[in-house]
Amino acid sequence: MSITLAINGGSPAIPQGTIKPWPPVNELDEDLVLASLRSSSHAWGEDCEALQREFAAWNGNKHCLAMNSGTAALHASLVGCGLGAGDEVITPAYSWTSSAACILHHDCIPVFVDNEPVTLNIDPGRIEGAITERTRAILVVHLHGVPADMDPIMEIARRRGLKVIEDCCQAHGALYKGGKVGTMGDCSAFSLNQNKMLSAGEGGLFVTDDPETLERARSLVLFGDFRAPVTDKPDYHFYGLGWMYRQNELCAAWARAQLTRLDGYIARAREMTAVLRQRLAGIPGLILPVEPDYAKENAYNFVCHVDPAAVGYTGPVAYYREAIMMALAAEGVPASVWQRRILPEMAAIAAKNAYGKGSPWREHGSTVDYDPLQFPVALAHSDSYFLIGGLRSPNTVETADLIADAVRKVFENLASIDIDELARRADITLYERGWKGQSLPRHSERSEESALEG
Ligand SMILES: Cc1ncc(COP(=O)(O)O)c(C=O)c1O
Repeated sequence: MSITLAINGGSPAIPQGTIKPWPPVNELDEDLVLASLRSSSHAWGEDCEALQREFAAWNGNKHCLAMNSGTAALHASLVGCGLGAGDEVITPAYSWTSSAACILHHDCIPVFVDNEPVTLNIDPGRIEGAITERTRAILVVHLHGVPADMDPIMEIARRRGLKVIEDCCQAHGALYKGGKVGTMGDCSAFSLNQNKMLSAGEGGLFVTDDPETLERARSLVLFGDFRAPVTDKPDYHFYGLGWMYRQNELCAAWARAQLTRLDGYIARAREMTAVLRQRLAGIPGLILPVEPDYAKENAYNFVCHVDPAAVGYTGPVAYYREAIMMALAAEGVPASVWQRRILPEMAAIAAKNAYGKGSPWREHGSTVDYDPLQFPVALAHSDSYFLIGGLRSPNTVETADLIADAVRKVFENLASIDIDELARRADITLYERGWKGQSLPRHSERSEESALEG
């Protein structure tokens, strides 16, 4: 029996409205948020204080600071580690922009290391080659909820006298050799934004076990007036360059309610991704994510890669990826691509111009090389991956089965789609890489120029 794909006019495999949005909201969320709303503390109060205690206890850290974003918590991590102007920080070439932006926020210089192909995290074998006399820290990202290989990273850091910051923004509850992420480095950052495993709409959490690291980070959170020299109460003096990174009570109340269900969320996501791994195994042209032996991921993202050679498609891999995604979306699968660029290609970094006038590279005399071709794994990944969403509560393993049916339907009927035609319909300028000299139809201007002049 021939099946017509939805992209060709057939019925979608997953009816609209089947996949429920994230995060689930129940009575506890409503009770805690309403109680906060009816209280007289909104900027800071018992919900922020309690969230700090409860998250520290849940994750196994001595200290926690509630902040207004994961990016802020990452910036606080650099401060906590005592970094200063012109210091170099090593971080993976493919990650969310914040993993590099937080380094620039502190007037430091990001130095990239290629990702490794299985976990897509920083490749520990390439870190030593990136260390210079200016290197002060390694900012590790547990990308897509899969822990980076921490033992070799910690060994290098301790031997070379470097601090380690864990970007756990996507990885709440992921385990490395049985230990939770965010407990191995000098300090760590978690995000509470809407898509995260622990969501409060927005927010961030900084954690550490070291009181001095805590105190340095705390000095950044609230305008720089947190550490009065004479009294332990703020005296509204500007002791250091501070930012306004404080969390608010409503979001903290919601985070507390969600935290009570976080273990259950992770367990459900792991069950759902297990269904996909089992049902989609062996499909030609589709590469499934692998959980490394040393880790238990939190199943934050289900990261697939396309393999056009396996089905005889010889055009650009990104075209094949785009066509597959369009066909999946038409079937009702929440398929998406997150970042299409690696960090060294991002305009402000490629142009070495974050603050204008070439700052901070110019004043620190940095000659760090951001040629993207140094990062072949990150480049290949960014061209060929896509994410399958909808694999979390309140959805169930039955939903995962429906998603698996829909993905199978597309891959089993690939012959009926015109990949080049679909890619033409998509915005293929997104894939254009001027530096590669590819001759694609239109030239995107966004890759070379920073938003700031000079
Ligand atoms: C890996 C990574 N780092 C940092 C962040 C920043 O978190 P936030 O959006 O809370 O600032 C995010 C999420 O957006 C992320 O995915």
